[in-house]
Amino acid sequence: MSLTAQQAAAPPVSARPVLEGRGLTKFFSVKHGRGIFAGTARLFAVDDVSVALAPGTVTALVGESGSGKTTVARMLAKIINPDGGKVLLDGEPVSGRPRSYARQVQMVFQDPFASLNPIHRINYHLIRPLKIHGLGGDDVNETVEDLLRRVALEPPQQFTRKFPHELSGGQRQRVAIARALSVRPRVLLADEPVSMLDVSIRLGILNLLADLRDREHLAILYVTHDIASARYLADTIVVMYAGQVVETAPSARLTDHPAHPYTQLLLSAAPDPDRVEPPSLAGSGAPPSLIAPPSGCRFHPRCPHAMAICSTTAPPSVTVDPGHAANCWLHVDASRRVPNNPEVVAANAGSTSMRPPAAPPPIGTTQMRRTEEDRSME
Ligand SMILES: Nc1ncnc2c1ncn2[C@@H]1O[C@H](COP(=O)(O)OP(=O)(O)O)[C@@H](O)[C@H]1O
Ligand code: SF4
Ligand SMILES: [Mg+2]
Repeated sequence: MSLTAQQAAAPPVSARPVLEGRGLTKFFSVKHGRGIFAGTARLFAVDDVSVALAPGTVTALVGESGSGKTTVARMLAKIINPDGGKVLLDGEPVSGRPRSYARQVQMVFQDPFASLNPIHRINYHLIRPLKIHGLGGDDVNETVEDLLRRVALEPPQQFTRKFPHELSGGQRQRVAIARALSVRPRVLLADEPVSMLDVSIRLGILNLLADLRDREHLAILYVTHDIASARYLADTIVVMYAGQVVETAPSARLTDHPAHPYTQLLLSAAPDPDRVEPPSLAGSGAPPSLIAPPSGCRFHPRCPHAMAICSTTAPPSVTVDPGHAANCWLHVDASRRVPNNPEVVAANAGSTSMRPPAAPPPIGTTQMRRTEEDRSME
């Protein structure tokens, strides 16, 4: 897909958020070292990330593998608990994961092959959440057929009795989306929903998500490593690097005028039909270890514009245009690029990147994938 692909019509992005993550932070305890030096270490997966999802909009969370995108989505779904920050639904902090929350905020997972139980027919996958949430209505079969129509699996009678292995990857992902829609959610968290599908069918799923935004006014988080598809689908793009947000802007603005060197790098590696060379991030360095992330700006070891201050002090978030913010010293006046500048210290005061984490991470937070998918329904 090219950056010039016609963008789905974008509604105004001013509506009040239905779901918000504020200052979300997550550590994991991981094994570190070998032999007699083996021990556990704290991995800083997500550090002070804020994201707001408004009805009738798509927000893309973009970054390389390991940048923390899935962890943010799982915290928003309340599949895992943040170690810092909070999740708000309609402006109210949510504690625990009440059933009403699980109904309103649904997740679509990356792998449509693993997310459907191979021993059950398609109608089982759609009826189960309806029963759990008491939403079947008088004629549950009619409800199921309706769901299949909404994700363009027609005629629906051809699909209800099939097993997952009888469907293509794209059809399975449509069933996974129909399952999420079955409980009438207000928010869809779609984690790399097309990355495991053939290129030829990706566009159909992206257009389905655009349709759900426009027709059903859903607030959608689209998690992807592919900035070109984010531009195609999303109203707003949030770029993550090494667990932190580095740039946020309306999608056309961000891709036409990227303000952060990392966003520029992502765009230079995005597919472009006019480019002769294949795109690649190879040769531009690799993301850092999240056990001992670089000091200052985490991107500084890879950044062609790095200055002395970049390795010592985390950059503040700078508004470079209305609705467009970048965390980069390049956008700070040279006279203010001073380590320990009180203005910058104050601006970064909420960020854990400036200080060590307060609480030890919970041990054993890793969950089996199927358990997560089952829990996301319940
Ligand atoms: N359950 C877990 N236990 C330990 N480390 C994890 C766990 N989940 C994610 N991580 C680590 O957190 C970092 C961010 O992961 P993730 O959120 O999956 O990134 P992305 O989705 O951007 O690829 C990675 O270094 C990953 O290895
Ligand atoms: S803060 Fe410095 S190292 Fe980080 S992206 Fe900006 S110029 Fe590069
Ligand atoms: Mg991921």
